Amino acid sequence: MKTKVGIIGAGPAGLMLSHLLHLEGIDSIVLESRSREEIEGTIRAGVLEQGTVDLINAAGLGERMMKEGKIHHGIELQYNGQRHRVNMHELTEGKEIMVYPQHEVIKDLVSARLDAGGEIFFNVEGVTLHGISTESPQILFSDFDGEAHELHCDFIAGCDGFHGPSRKMIPELFRQEKQKIYPFGWLGILAETPIANPELIYANHDRGFALLSTRTPELQRHYIQVDPKDDISNWSDDRIWTELKTRVDTNDGWELPDGPIVQKNIVSMRSFVCEPMQYGRLFIAGDAAHIVPPTGAKGLNLAMTDIQVLKQGISRFYRFGEKELLNKYSEIALRRVWKAQRFSYWMTTMLHTDHNKTSFERSIQLSELDYVTSSRAALKSLAENYVGLPLEWEGSSLLV
Ligand code: FAD
Ligand code: DHB
Repeated sequence: MKTKVGIIGAGPAGLMLSHLLHLEGIDSIVLESRSREEIEGTIRAGVLEQGTVDLINAAGLGERMMKEGKIHHGIELQYNGQRHRVNMHELTEGKEIMVYPQHEVIKDLVSARLDAGGEIFFNVEGVTLHGISTESPQILFSDFDGEAHELHCDFIAGCDGFHGPSRKMIPELFRQEKQKIYPFGWLGILAETPIANPELIYANHDRGFALLSTRTPELQRHYIQVDPKDDISNWSDDRIWTELKTRVDTNDGWELPDGPIVQKNIVSMRSFVCEPMQYGRLFIAGDAAHIVPPTGAKGLNLAMTDIQVLKQGISRFYRFGEKELLNKYSEIALRRVWKAQRFSYWMTTMLHTDHNKTSFERSIQLSELDYVTSSRAALKSLAENYVGLPLEWEGSSLLV
């Protein structure tokens, strides 16, 4: 089997890369270890940056997103029981974010690829990478029926998430991994209730952080900070609602609507960066290369910017035989990745409650929230990061 770009992983990064390459007339094959139903049913991210929305539209995939997604012009930050609106739209001269779930983006991408005759192998096993420092690397794998294949390609894109095999192929001598593990976890729920608030609420409370988000007018997505080692079986629906209500309470009669919880789980939080994001003919993108804590809503969006750099590098290689951008892929992507890491770390430490902190540190945290919500300069900084920073190389934008 032969293709130009062998892509491992059918997450947002792998599928979007395959789609964008197709639009440039460059063929690729995507290998995914899970089933189509599984990848289309996994509940994860919800917030798309302006740049991600623009990319999805420019790639001709925006029809359902523009109908079913919800544009938000701001968010609310809450502390000491008081809410403070951050008017993103006004602070960024017209930018906004879209709440449209990751699994819907996945559905749109899978159907676009399959409609265009794109090849996605679901349920593959035993993926291994070979010859990445040669000009004709190969990927070995077994398909759904157990048949073994050898995929020969010009490039391999490792879009296989944090636990995939690609990153580990960069020799340890050349690979540096930097990380921070937080003492926080997020318990996320999907609940059949009306919308709690027209905009997302990020709430700081002595008992821990809480986030109110949404999916549809009838289905809401909320999160509470818990111990990352806690077990979901310790959390009855009643306990979750009581905790959420306590943390987002404003003492002015506003009430959080509750109802049946149809899904709940706990995820732990880390910041992680692998440097570099390339070796020979292997390029890693998205969660395979970096993880952010979810507080800044950056993970999926970063995956989308990585692959925009990669796609342009690959495209220039085939169109002009030019390797410069491809050789600089890691350098360009990492500059933006580190800024998103900084922002996600900052949002996480500003909003979560760490009971190991001293009362002095707690007062500094509250003072930071006071500063951020009262200084126009600080609000502008928060807003420009939240809607998404530019992606630039040699003075021009690499975003679509
Ligand atoms: P993934 O989505 O992880 O895709 C990788 C794919 O590779 C998977 O389908 C996997 O099955 C496949 N794979 C793995 N190993 C193999 C193998 N050996 N062979 C073949 N295939 C393999 N991000 C945001 O931008 N905004 C948000 O609001 C947001 N909220 C979040 C909330 C939560 C609770 C969580 C957990 C995450 C959130 N994120 C958010 C992060 C976002 O979901 C991820 O960053 C995003 O999924 C990364 O996409 P990816 O394509 O790089 O990796
Ligand atoms: C959602 C997830 C996030 O990480 C975030 O910061 C905001 C919203 C969500 O799933 O809706």
